[in-house]
Amino acid sequence: MIIAIDGPAGAGKSTVAREVALALGFAYINTGAMYRAVALEARAQKLDPQTNEAAITEIGRTLPMRFGAGGTRLFVGDRDVSEAIMAPDMGEAASKVAGLPRLRSEVVARQHEMGKVAERECGGAVLEGRDIQTVVFPDAQLKIFLTATDEARAQRRIDQWKQKGHAFDAERALLDVRERDARDASRDASPLRPADDAVYLLSDGLTAGQVIERIVNLARERMSQ
Ligand code: DC
Repeated sequence: MIIAIDGPAGAGKSTVAREVALALGFAYINTGAMYRAVALEARAQKLDPQTNEAAITEIGRTLPMRFGAGGTRLFVGDRDVSEAIMAPDMGEAASKVAGLPRLRSEVVARQHEMGKVAERECGGAVLEGRDIQTVVFPDAQLKIFLTATDEARAQRRIDQWKQKGHAFDAERALLDVRERDARDASRDASPLRPADDAVYLLSDGLTAGQVIERIVNLARERMSQ
C-alpha cells in the first residue's frame, strides 16, 4: 500500500507521516528532504537554480541519498545531512531547486522506485511531499491533503527552529511559509495541489495524535476493502 501525504510547509506532514508509517510497519519517505539535500549540494557547488538547471539535474540524478533510522535521517554517501538540510534557509533553497522541471523528473523517478522497493520489502510506504498524490504515485491507495492556517504553520516552524537552537523571527517565519507556498503552488512543474480523490484534513485544533489516528484508521479501512 502507498499512502501519499501532501500539503504546504509547516502543516505537520513529517511528524504525521513518520508516525503513520511506524503504526502500520511501513517505510517513511520524506521527499522534501531529498530536494533539500540537492539544494545543499547545489549550494556547495555554488550553482544558481536560475542558471544551472543541467548541473543541478545531474546532482538530482546521481547524489547518493539514503534514508536511515526509520526515514528520520538522510545520508549523502556517509555524511548525515539531516541537521544541515533543516537549517532555516534551506526550505527556500529547496523550493527554488524544486521548481526545475528536469531536476524534478529525476528526483520523482527515484522517489517512485524507493516507494516500490518499500512496498515489496515492508508491505507499504508513506511518502510525504507536495506532488506525491498527483505525480509520484497518482494511483496511491490513500491520498491525504494535510493543511493548517498560515499562522499555525509559521508557529510550527518557529517551534522546530527553537528546539534546534536556530535564531528566528516570528514575522519572518510567517512571510517564509507564505512565500514558499506561493512558489510551490504556482510553479509550472507539478504545483502543490490536492488530487481529486484526496481526503482533505485541516490540522488546526487537532493534536498530531488525532491526525495520525484518523489516517491510520483510513488506511486500515482501505486495506480491508
Ligand atoms: O517538505 P519540505 O518543507 O521539507 O520541502 C522543502 C521544499 O521542497 C518545498 O518548499 C517544496 C519542495 N518539495 C517539492 O517540490 N516536492 C515534494 N514532493 C517535496 C518537497
